[in-house]
Amino acid sequence: MTILVTGGAGFIGSNFILDWFEQGPEPVLNIDKLTYAGNLQNLATVSARKQYFFFRIGIEETNKIRRLLGAHNVRAIINFAAESHVDRSIAGPEAFFQTNVIGTLKLLEAAREYWTSGEAPKDFRFLQVSTDEVYGSLQPDEPGFRETDAFEPNSPYAASKAGSDHIVRAYGETYGLPVLITHCSNNYGPFQFPEKLIPLVILNALGGKPLPLYGDGQQVRDWLYVSDHCDALNRVLSDGQPGETYNIGGNSERNNLTVVHTICVILDELRPLASGKSYAEQIAFVRDRPGHDRRYAIDASKLARTLQWSPRTSFEGGIRRTVEWYLANPAWTTSVTSGEYREWVARQYA
Ligand code: NAD
Ligand code: DAU
Repeated sequence: MTILVTGGAGFIGSNFILDWFEQGPEPVLNIDKLTYAGNLQNLATVSARKQYFFFRIGIEETNKIRRLLGAHNVRAIINFAAESHVDRSIAGPEAFFQTNVIGTLKLLEAAREYWTSGEAPKDFRFLQVSTDEVYGSLQPDEPGFRETDAFEPNSPYAASKAGSDHIVRAYGETYGLPVLITHCSNNYGPFQFPEKLIPLVILNALGGKPLPLYGDGQQVRDWLYVSDHCDALNRVLSDGQPGETYNIGGNSERNNLTVVHTICVILDELRPLASGKSYAEQIAFVRDRPGHDRRYAIDASKLARTLQWSPRTSFEGGIRRTVEWYLANPAWTTSVTSGEYREWVARQYA
């Protein structure tokens, strides 16, 4: 038996594969197109394992994926592959709909063919990794998102993820494909590409650059440490009910200004500036993101109640580990902050 992970060279997918091999030897097929966000270095510690297979394939390549499913007797697909950065979706939405909507449809076609042919194991699963952003934005005093909330996506990225979730659901209802959908909050941890807030701030701070906060910096996210997320996905995969949707949160709502301040305090301690100043002096309030969602929060009580899962990592513990990881891995950060990344940063923060 084997699992097939898509987007396994990205941030969460690579953490998932690394954690997977900590638990046992079940083989993993990693399918990744290697866009700017995919990085095989993330998997350097497992790439020589005989249970690990990498294929540079897009999720839209139905026939190739269909052949792999049969040849490797795949028992589960975990779909991480996506265009995932909200700001890039605002700058250029089309790629998001190509990969997140059409790509997911084509991947589902491979899964449907495999499932209906009778070749797939009886306990086959298709797990769609989605986001809390599909639910829209919350007022300060509103309760967290629940699985039954209507979708109200506000960015092209969120709309594309909502679209893909609807298709996954439809394949479950129409074709009986055993699908599971998860909606998680903002992940952070090792190997996150530094276009997202937390790694961007760590690297800008160390580089003596401004720490850009959009608008008033009071937007709230629920931060989920990536290995907790991977743990929850494993639980959903093994014990989740086909056709069900599960929210995954970190129990760690923080506003962006607090997040950035927390990082600065840790850096002041671990890598003090020669000037004696605080990194917090580099904070710069910049033009707000168009359509910026004010607050996300997750009600993860369904996961706690039905699958006995809740997050283990506090925000304070997780953010310290994350800063330590970036400080300990300068070669990784240098390699990902090359040409294309610099061009993006120059355009976005001009
Ligand atoms: P990421 O951008 O770091 O990685 C995405 C990966 O998908 C990359 O390796 C990329 O090369 C690959 N990819 C892109 N297009 C592809 C295609 N057509 N075919 C095959 N591979 C392709 O993203 P991430 O942060 O690891 O997010 C993983 C998943 O989790 C995404 O579906 C995202 O929507 C979802 N999610 C992420 C977060 C978060 O905070 N990062 C939160 C909620 C949900
Ligand atoms: O909520 C889950 C989502 O979290 C995922 O679905 C997305 O894939 C992931 O990218 C993330 O989206 P966000 O837009 O919330 O993450 P980002 O790191 O881009 O931004 C976090 C917050 O920080 C958000 O309120 C915008 C703000 N921000 C971000 C950047 C990059 C800034 O203030 N300045 C910045 O430079």
